[in-house]
Amino acid sequence: MTTPEDSSLRKTPDQLRSHRWFGPDDLRSFGHRSRVKQMGFAAEDYENKPIIGILNTWNDLNTCHTHFRDRANEIKRGVWQQGGFPVEIPVMSLSEPFMKPTTMFYRSLLAMEAEETIRCYPLDGVVLMGGCDKTTPALIMGATELDVPAIYFPAGPMLKGNYKGITLGSGSDSWKYWDERRAGNLTKKEWFGVEDSIARSPGHCMTMGTASTMTAVAETLGLTLPGASSIPAVHSEHARMATRTGRRIVDMVWHDIKPSSILSQPAFENAITADMAIGGSTNAIVHILAMAHRAGVDLTLDHFDAISRKTPFIANIRPSGKYLMEDFYDAGGLRAVLKNIASLLHLDAPTVNGHTLGQNIESAETFDTDIVRPLNNPLSPEGGTFVLRGNLAPDGCVIKVIAAEKHLLQHTGPAIVFKDYNDLAARIDDPDLPVTPESVIVLQNAGPLGAPGMPEWGMLPIPKKILEQGHRDMVRISDARMSGTSYGSCILHVSPESWVGGPLALVQTGDTITLDAPNRSLQLNVSDVELAQRKTNWSPPNPRFTRGYGKLFSEQTTQAHLGCDFKLLHRGESSGEAEIH
Ligand code: FES
Repeated sequence: MTTPEDSSLRKTPDQLRSHRWFGPDDLRSFGHRSRVKQMGFAAEDYENKPIIGILNTWNDLNTCHTHFRDRANEIKRGVWQQGGFPVEIPVMSLSEPFMKPTTMFYRSLLAMEAEETIRCYPLDGVVLMGGCDKTTPALIMGATELDVPAIYFPAGPMLKGNYKGITLGSGSDSWKYWDERRAGNLTKKEWFGVEDSIARSPGHCMTMGTASTMTAVAETLGLTLPGASSIPAVHSEHARMATRTGRRIVDMVWHDIKPSSILSQPAFENAITADMAIGGSTNAIVHILAMAHRAGVDLTLDHFDAISRKTPFIANIRPSGKYLMEDFYDAGGLRAVLKNIASLLHLDAPTVNGHTLGQNIESAETFDTDIVRPLNNPLSPEGGTFVLRGNLAPDGCVIKVIAAEKHLLQHTGPAIVFKDYNDLAARIDDPDLPVTPESVIVLQNAGPLGAPGMPEWGMLPIPKKILEQGHRDMVRISDARMSGTSYGSCILHVSPESWVGGPLALVQTGDTITLDAPNRSLQLNVSDVELAQRKTNWSPPNPRFTRGYGKLFSEQTTQAHLGCDFKLLHRGESSGEAEIH
């Protein structure tokens, strides 16, 4: 591993990638240099210095990244301090609260944009500024492909919500109080009170949702400075971390520390282990698979299940635990978790600061053992997510068992089938719906191609009449994803999806379904002969898109168990930088 101390391995200025733009004594380089001077910079400001691209996913509708313009300036400060030349480059922002049909529809577009932005500009290294759910995997996927030195800077979680002294968690408490309102237990005034109080600072969701999970994954992979992912967005340490990140990327360029030297099979196994230990979002599975495939690492759902079986869940954070990310940071944060599970990690995995993961967590401490549990007092002896298989999901599906009611984890019940989201919305609260608490709610056509984009619809609503009976969980099955802030006995990512004729498309109301989570099984209790007959009667739906990005998405997106990446962006299909002049 190259460290900042290995000065003999330091690049010379003419080995910088940007030298191709600025170094030669020719007409094109004249143009490049004169245009930097147009911005008011003199030669001594940029000449022979690493050009650092700061890929900023700020926009006015990404409320999780409100502070990113300030942080970009703080990153620039660090770049200048270390002798680099910073350039801020806005890239597409994937805003979870606002984008339709779902940010997942655009993850590959941001990944492509990041890759091509790095490719086309004179950048020697990049700082990737993300946080809101899909921004993290998308930026990493893009940077991995081009393999210039890259460091990830996470947005950090927002402050805890608070309504009349009651702590509120992003997402989780929206679902919870909405159910109470539908059940008639919450007034409109109280509902608006929750609305005013649940998101009260910049930063991403402060539960252990997809954003907190994916930034923790990025840190465990070795792509951030140690401790970066747990710092609340508005904490002054977050600004200081930004400046340190700016300083570090300059050294990474000189010592050529690239994603390919970080993103190994052991690094991904570490990331999965951390994901299980923190009770991470089920979405992380799809993203980790996609990132690994970009890095040339061969991961499958079986890796997740194997690691889940041996990794205790020890971070007591909502929605599966009690606390929120601000508490987690004060309790020691991700470094404390990693220290506690050190025996399960590949400690020699390299990271962006030039030290190993083991070295980075050596001094970590836990300040509250109810929030970051020791291994001998876990919240659950196994990881948060199980991978299930069976005739309903031959290529697998997942369930977040730690967020489900335990009595439902082994359950047989009759299916109530909805053919798509609109059907669900129209009928779920119908007083005549033949539903009981034992029913299994099934949603079809909500997968990667069917929805499209595999939206976070997987926490299917409990019918109003069941809520009114006092029940708050039922077995629910779909090929959709679920927000990391969601909870319940929701079986997700069923693969292959119903839109392409997977067995989920063949389920009919009244069929019985058996969930056996401890034995990792999901079974539709219909004979093979009957299923084959239903399949012959099934016909593929008409294509949703005939042009544009939607058509590209439909033609290229893989199924959930493969990561939902574009086929043409898989490793080995790269156009190669060397061919472009
Ligand atoms: Fe941005 Fe949850 S909405 S992280």
